[in-house]
Amino acid sequence: MISPSERRNAVIYQVYPRSYNDSNGDGIGDLDGITQRIDHIAKLGVDGIWLSPIFASPQADMGYDVSDYLSVAPEYGDVAAADRLVAAAHARGLFLLLDIVPCHTSIEHPWFRDHPEWYIIRDTEERPNNWTATFGGRAWDRDPFGRGWYCHTFYPEQPNLNWRNPEVVAAMHGVLRWWFERGVDGFRIDAVDRLFVDEHLRDEPAATREYALVERPDYASLDHIHTVNQPEVFGALRDLRADFPDKFLVTEAYCPVGELHRYTEHVDLTFCFELMQSEFDVQRFADVITEGSRVPGIAWMLSNHDFPRMVTRWNRDVARTAATMQLTLPGAAFIYQGDEIGLADGPGADPPFDRVGRDSARHPMQWTPSGGFTTGSPWLSMVDAAECNVADQDDDPASMLSLYRDLIEMRQGLSGEVSDVRVEGAVLRYSRDMTDITLNFGTTATPIGTGTLVLATQALEADGCLPGYAAAVMRR
Ligand code: NOJ
Ligand code: CA
Repeated sequence: MISPSERRNAVIYQVYPRSYNDSNGDGIGDLDGITQRIDHIAKLGVDGIWLSPIFASPQADMGYDVSDYLSVAPEYGDVAAADRLVAAAHARGLFLLLDIVPCHTSIEHPWFRDHPEWYIIRDTEERPNNWTATFGGRAWDRDPFGRGWYCHTFYPEQPNLNWRNPEVVAAMHGVLRWWFERGVDGFRIDAVDRLFVDEHLRDEPAATREYALVERPDYASLDHIHTVNQPEVFGALRDLRADFPDKFLVTEAYCPVGELHRYTEHVDLTFCFELMQSEFDVQRFADVITEGSRVPGIAWMLSNHDFPRMVTRWNRDVARTAATMQLTLPGAAFIYQGDEIGLADGPGADPPFDRVGRDSARHPMQWTPSGGFTTGSPWLSMVDAAECNVADQDDDPASMLSLYRDLIEMRQGLSGEVSDVRVEGAVLRYSRDMTDITLNFGTTATPIGTGTLVLATQALEADGCLPGYAAAVMRR
């Protein structure tokens, strides 16, 4: 397994347990199913795995609403199955990160009923303030136990915990310790930017600027100065690090690239969402890369279970170019399951499982031309298994899967900072030591300079130019 000092360069594969592989034919992916497919992950060449939530949950937000942090959702298996997965990962030199949801619990967690002081509850006539919830609507709902209003940053089924109460801190640190003792290597820490809200519950002002990241309209109507990235968040992370000095910690925090260092001061990695959200703005890519590659602990990502998939947002060729960008940058990189075969968004379900429309990015992995995900009826349909699957791509050197494997292997030979970042129309160029990277986000062919061609995402043209929507890596 990689050493702690190498974590900041790790390549990490995100597994969405419900959609990876079903071992018992009930149509729902599970932990033993992941264990059965562990060699696919090892063969990709990644350093470790991040598992989206596996804990007991009513699944109002697909596991991000936890009703028991110390048990596994029965449809995914049990704690023994988690132990088997940890062992299988470790046997292949892979680390395993779980997903902890510290900001809120499920409304069905016994803590909510038994410990109102662990939550943000106010017994007022009217809603305590004007705050809005991330997924739309107001951030306050009537408490089902008649104690007033409770605050929820996300769905109403996800009441916010009160991290100003030391009992909450102790309980959550206890959860982490329990899983560490089982051999888990670390955690991706969910939505930690919203861990604290203003103590005085002050109203938020109307939005005055367009936030760098895409949001839902009523959430975007306010400037979230009292509910996101509050100073107390960093104190909580400092205490977490002090308690678990050698564990692998990754934060999910939406904040502009220039402010991410506030997180990486305390944890190994924090996501940078801005490459994903820069779409086709090549100048913006260049700016984010220039700024972000100076942040030790940055984790580049191009997709996850919350956003439309890469080949759907762009197209297959652009996705290959973008993957080359992601995997040639210094820092860590997260790859969402399915992206390695170019899986597209699917139709979702009717009625939807996710009320804000994220089912489409969560369709099952496609292992074989007939699917190979389940012997039963999958919880979400296959998208296009006959055309896009692991088995067909495995030995095809031109496949998306081969490209990902090649990029991950090639990356080991890269060193040095990003230098010489240039934008020429739709072409982005940069170097790292003696390696020159050319990313063509436009349709016109472009020269790639001199040296030895290490990798190209498409065949070069007869005159040696790189075609449109393609990337090349050259060594001088
Ligand atoms: C971020 C997770 O990625 C998303 O899926 C979830 O809905 C929210 N946090 C709330 O926990
Ligand atoms: Ca199953």
